[in-house]
Amino acid sequence: MVSSSDEALRESRPAGRPPPGAAMNPEFGARLRCPACAGALEPTAPQERPDVREGALHCRCGQSFPVIAGVPRILPDELMPTLLSEQEEFFQRHPGLRPACAASRPSATLSTLRAFGDEWQRFPEIHTIHERIFSWYFEGAGGVAWRGLYALDAGCGMGRWLHFARRAGAHVVGMDVSPAIDVAAAREGGDLVQADLRYPPFAPGAFDLVFSLGVLHHLEDPVQGLRALARLVRPGGELRIYVYRSLDGEPWPRRALLGLVTLLRRVTTRLPYALVHGVAALVAWVATLFFLWPRRLLRGNPLGERLTRGLPLVHYANVPFRMLVAEQFDRLVAPIEGRFRREEVEAWIRAVGFEVVETRAELGWRVVARRPTAAPCEGPGSLPSRPSVGRGGASSGAALGPAGDSRPHADPGRHGQNAVHVQRFHASPEPASGG
Ligand SMILES: C[S@@+](CC[C@H](N)C(=O)[O-])C[C@H]1O[C@@H](n2cnc3c(N)ncnc32)[C@H](O)[C@@H]1O
Ligand SMILES: [Zn+2]
Repeated sequence: MVSSSDEALRESRPAGRPPPGAAMNPEFGARLRCPACAGALEPTAPQERPDVREGALHCRCGQSFPVIAGVPRILPDELMPTLLSEQEEFFQRHPGLRPACAASRPSATLSTLRAFGDEWQRFPEIHTIHERIFSWYFEGAGGVAWRGLYALDAGCGMGRWLHFARRAGAHVVGMDVSPAIDVAAAREGGDLVQADLRYPPFAPGAFDLVFSLGVLHHLEDPVQGLRALARLVRPGGELRIYVYRSLDGEPWPRRALLGLVTLLRRVTTRLPYALVHGVAALVAWVATLFFLWPRRLLRGNPLGERLTRGLPLVHYANVPFRMLVAEQFDRLVAPIEGRFRREEVEAWIRAVGFEVVETRAELGWRVVARRPTAAPCEGPGSLPSRPSVGRGGASSGAALGPAGDSRPHADPGRHGQNAVHVQRFHASPEPASGG
């Protein structure tokens, strides 16, 4: 399974794309902004090379951010210490680039970063079935016309979705707070940045499409993350998110199972990752024996199909075993797992000044949202016209109805919000998590 996936990857890298591990693309560097002051970042490489594979980006406000293995690391102060430990060799080679920062304090973001860093280093494979899942994620509102889009994958993990989006013809930037970005860099290459999506290093309105799949429910404050991402979408552009769904109103066996998993998570989010891997493998075996094999065997006949359709985890009936383990690991290791009702998620979208185009309920919520073209915005008013995002083009947006919530604070592009953003890049106010 793994080797066939790897072959698919090799075939799929378009000619001309910089190989993994290449220097940072200077055009990408020019698009980056300092999250503290929104200023441009100037590269300097230790050996005065014009490219930056190893070096730093500097801002006039005094901030500087290392570029390691061609990937800029634009992290808030609270997370910089983890970079020092994870990239020890780099800082030994370039002691002058060592950021001056205190030791890490425990925080939910820090635990999240470590957990997912481990997950994607442990499970870096893209499987054949991922291509179908990619299509499923983006089928809402008539799909996405990828060719020519400038898109951001916020919380890209090891890069499985940006892989397919690039293959479909989009220019996709990957951003992740965790060392998963190094897995994406090694395999996918291209424009990647290690950054916290709450403080994204891009200009307002920089992207045609921002997508974030399975990420916001791992934040302490998903709306803070959503607001930061919404600012990055150009007027008329799209935001697509996937978040876990609350099981309120679902049949009791489902809720009971979720209750069990929640109890199990109380233990597993405190265990060493190797042990979580063991528990995930056990859960995967149990699921395979009691749910997935019966499903695979019986779904061919109408009665069997009806009997097995409601079994837990049967949406994994076609996935390779290793991927099943990875999915269980993901559930068990993440320090924060929020679950939300449709009204809540749609209210977030409106609160950041976007229109809800479509919300699909299957497993979690897949939401397609659009930034109104008429909304006042701080930066991108003079952006050149860009390709439309949805297959339906502009007309699919025209049928959406009135623009979202017009409360004064609801516009994602107001200057006041930027000020909050600047302050919080330096603050580290998070309480310790249970992770
Ligand atoms: C469940 S994984 C999903 C990864 C990817 N979207 C996928 O579906 O393959 C969640 C990802 O979000 C990233 N993440 C969590 N909090 C983040 C933050 N504040 N900023 C950027 N990335 C974050 C994690 O590092 C992790 O890679
Ligand atoms: Zn700055």
